[in-house]
Amino acid sequence: MDFRRIARRRLPWPAFNYLDGGADDEHTLSRNTAAFDDYELLPSQLSDVSSIDTSTTLLGEHMAWPVMISPTGASKLFHADGEPAVVRAAEKFGMIYSLSTLGTATIEDVAAIGSGPKMYQVYMFKDRGLTENFVERCKAAQYSALCLTVDTPLAGNRERDLVTGFAAPPKGSFRGHLNYIRQLPLRSLVSFARHPGWLARAMIKEDLELVNITSNPNAKDIDTGIVEYINEQFDRSLTWKEVEWLAQLWNGPLVIKGVQTVEDCRKAADSGATAVMLSNHGGRQLEGAPAPVDCIAAVADKLRDRLEIICDGGVRRGTHVVKALALGANACSIGRGYLYALAAGGQAGVERALELLKSEVERTLALVGCSSVAKLGRSYVRLRR
Ligand code: FNR
Repeated sequence: MDFRRIARRRLPWPAFNYLDGGADDEHTLSRNTAAFDDYELLPSQLSDVSSIDTSTTLLGEHMAWPVMISPTGASKLFHADGEPAVVRAAEKFGMIYSLSTLGTATIEDVAAIGSGPKMYQVYMFKDRGLTENFVERCKAAQYSALCLTVDTPLAGNRERDLVTGFAAPPKGSFRGHLNYIRQLPLRSLVSFARHPGWLARAMIKEDLELVNITSNPNAKDIDTGIVEYINEQFDRSLTWKEVEWLAQLWNGPLVIKGVQTVEDCRKAADSGATAVMLSNHGGRQLEGAPAPVDCIAAVADKLRDRLEIICDGGVRRGTHVVKALALGANACSIGRGYLYALAAGGQAGVERALELLKSEVERTLALVGCSSVAKLGRSYVRLRR
């Protein structure tokens, strides 16, 4: 949360609130983290924790510890070094990096950075040609896994963005930018004026574009903000049939992101998915959705032999990771946990955040008396009475 404080200072008001905010009254957003406190860790003392093994495998890849990077849009809004800075940090820490369709670095540019495992997150567009093009490019660029986000038939009600006038990334001409700026509330204008470096970059450089979409031959021009784009282009008629279609097209590890119930996870497995991300999009979509940590046990009990389970949302501490794994998750995934650090200090900031989180996982394992993540199970955790 120290990184969050620095991010708040460094970013213009609209950009920070886009990063930080959630849907409606943000109960789901705050519950995602708070729900971890409903679980207690039960140590098994005197269990020889002289060496701790945090390594695991996920989606067929070796991971140095059981945490991966969630896909998030437009990282260059938060730091000029954007996605590439996070890819490099993730590789140093032996983690899977996920690139969003709404990212500000291309599939190919990210693939060319280092040799760490990468996952690409797609949305299903009304125009299937767009999705097919992404899949082909991911195959050519040798991504390890594909992820379909299913919790966004339309954009959630992010009221902070309505208040700040956030509509990024406004693509196009200088005049387009000026028109956009004219519509902003005074507080946003003042905030942009206080961050002249950020503003100059956003207006002069072209790299705040959603480049995966603009580089796609099937894409329509994006001259709207993210929310309008999602609401116009994403396919709301999507069903599990299309997941089967995607699984066959991709023919590799497929993650379904944004499910919460056992029934949906079963449908994911039946449709050809290899993993599910228990996730409510970091509280940015359906207000009232359960916290991911509260969904793990039921899904693990029924489907752990058919699916890998990733807990995505609210993870801020090593104890959260250990609780999620003890409940039955294979790994956790973090969004804001690295984005605040990116905004605060670029690649060095992300590395510091990952270093802290990893050391917390190691310390918690030792204190709970478990020498490896592979040995974690229900005996180490219980619901608080
Ligand atoms: C996201 N998330 C997201 N998810 C996705 O599938 N595609 C996307 O483009 C984005 N974009 C995005 C932007 C920002 C600024 C945030 C904060 C989040 C959701 C993300 O992948 C993940 O589910 C949440 O961030 C997890 O919650 P925490 O870790 O932020 O609490």
